[in-house]
Amino acid sequence: MARTEGTGGIEGVAAAARRPVSRKSLLKAALVAVPLPALLGGGVALARDHRPSDAPLEPTPFCDDGDDPTPPQIEGPYFKPNSPERASLLEPGTRGTRLTVSGFVFGLTCQPVAHALLDFWQADDAGAYDNRTYRMRGHQYTDVRGAFTLTTVVPGLYPGRTRHLHVKVQAPGGRILTTQLYFPGEPRNNTDPLFDAALLMNVRQAGSAKQATFDFVVTPDRRGG
Ligand SMILES: [Fe+2]
Repeated sequence: MARTEGTGGIEGVAAAARRPVSRKSLLKAALVAVPLPALLGGGVALARDHRPSDAPLEPTPFCDDGDDPTPPQIEGPYFKPNSPERASLLEPGTRGTRLTVSGFVFGLTCQPVAHALLDFWQADDAGAYDNRTYRMRGHQYTDVRGAFTLTTVVPGLYPGRTRHLHVKVQAPGGRILTTQLYFPGEPRNNTDPLFDAALLMNVRQAGSAKQATFDFVVTPDRRGG
């Protein structure tokens, strides 16, 4: 289902600000703070093991709020099927600010989804889509932890849109989520009717490059919403 115009922009930012802390952000905090073997080996790691002895117990950060799936967005005119399988869209001579986007794909009940398909496509540094070949296009699969990393460049701006990446995400046997990812602090986020603050990546500068994170929540089977 395509997101209708008028639901993003400043209203979207305000709506996001009103939301309680999402499970995704809590998951990110936990994944940063807890060694991965603790997450994989024993299920949910117990944050209370690390608290000061007199601190109150925190609510369980996992799977407590029935988080919504990642919002869909329109595909746009530039999707091409059958992109090459590659985690890096960089080719010899690719220009632009280096960007990595990493994160996890989760199901609705917080389980990481292994071997989920992610198909990325984007404008190049100059804001142009290559519709003749597969430049700046590629698909990859999450690993056993449900993790992915895309290596690319920051997409350039083109008329009418704020800065964005396109992506399709599909759990094995699941429905396809078509959506877009956005960059914080972009002036056009306030004027692009498609912009949705729920699709903002966390982006940090790392030397001359940018490192972004985003976690997807998908419906693992075709029956889900
Ligand atoms: Fe686009």
